[in-house]
Amino acid sequence: MTSVAHPRSSAELIGAEEPVLAHNYHPLPVVVARAEGTWVEDVEGRRYLDMLAGYSALNFGHRHPALIEAAHRQLDRLTLTSRAFHNDRLAEFAERLAALIGLDMVLPMNTGAEAVESAVKVARKWAYDVKGVPDGRATIVVAADNFHGRTTTIVSFSTDDVARTGFGPFTPGFRIVPYNDLAAMEAAIDETTAAVLIEPIQGEAGVNIPDDGYLAGVRELTRRAGCLFVADEIQSGLGRTGRTLAVEHESVVPDVVLLGKALGGGIVPVSAVVARREVLQVLHPGEHGSTFGGNPLAAAVGTAVLDLLETGEFQRRAAELGVVLRGGLESLVGKGVVRFRARGLWAGVDIDPSLGTGRDISERLMREGILVKDTHGSTIRLAPPLTITADELQGALGTLEKVLAQGA
Ligand SMILES: Cc1ncc(COP(=O)(O)O)c(C=O)c1O
Repeated sequence: MTSVAHPRSSAELIGAEEPVLAHNYHPLPVVVARAEGTWVEDVEGRRYLDMLAGYSALNFGHRHPALIEAAHRQLDRLTLTSRAFHNDRLAEFAERLAALIGLDMVLPMNTGAEAVESAVKVARKWAYDVKGVPDGRATIVVAADNFHGRTTTIVSFSTDDVARTGFGPFTPGFRIVPYNDLAAMEAAIDETTAAVLIEPIQGEAGVNIPDDGYLAGVRELTRRAGCLFVADEIQSGLGRTGRTLAVEHESVVPDVVLLGKALGGGIVPVSAVVARREVLQVLHPGEHGSTFGGNPLAAAVGTAVLDLLETGEFQRRAAELGVVLRGGLESLVGKGVVRFRARGLWAGVDIDPSLGTGRDISERLMREGILVKDTHGSTIRLAPPLTITADELQGALGTLEKVLAQGA
């Protein structure tokens, strides 16, 4: 047996990844070794404020004590049964999740993409079994610039060439309309339409917030047409925007809500399709499933996440600190910020392209101890843990101001 010396420094670890790790990501050159709350530490002991929060998977910060405790307790008891048997954690998780979202039934899955895939299948089956669409003809209306995940079916209805090119043939049955355009959506809906699937705020597109009235309009259109409104709240949901769900800003209740990311507390992948009974009851044994979906560890952590959300504390924090974030960004408009879109503790910030790409800005912020990520072009996304303090947030905005003032 040959033994491999373990490289230690950031540079060595990054170099060691190069030949063995698929190059499907282009991470910032920081190697995180530990984290607590809103702060992460690299292998050399440098500390960074996390202003990305795992793309909203870490809404409650790193290693929230209540979540870690719930995970430890469950690890000591039972971790996996598969759905071949019942486990004693799943019923409470499903009951309380359905109640929090205001819908009836839950289909537990693991990743966000799986929740989206599951919703596509459920919507199609609902169209055939309940709506009476002829078999094989169901369509789903989606929005341009969407991001719903990376599976073959999901990239089939992406408009991002990088995400699609080289991965065909694609799954048919999707109609793509411009986001924030109710007339185009209405024109695309017909008797074959099973569902409209949209993000209430498009995260990967740069925190793209639709006009007031759009979500209520989608609700009205889908109700009139007799098709489902599926809201992908995987990134926008669970407190990020100052409400439990982003659709609540327009008092809208979709037929189906997709959740993921923060539902697993930053510890385990947990996702769910939450829907009206009429919709999810189209599934029967053998028609859909997942070995890990609804496992007791996931359910225990997910239930601890629900404990946090049920108090409303994190939603309130996001709303209150969102005012600080918005105010800080407003003061930077014209000083390197061209424009921004923000709701709660979530912002897409378009930086003056003459100062660099989003990637350049992210690297400069990293060197100043702030971790963010570009979305595309010169846009960066700010999405700190909802546990961030006003001082930490002001500090991050001050650092952004400093980096922008340094010029290109
Ligand atoms: C809105 C939305 N849907 C789905 C996904 C896919 O989630 P996952 O990466 O867990 O598959 C993402 C991930 O960024 C997302 O933002």
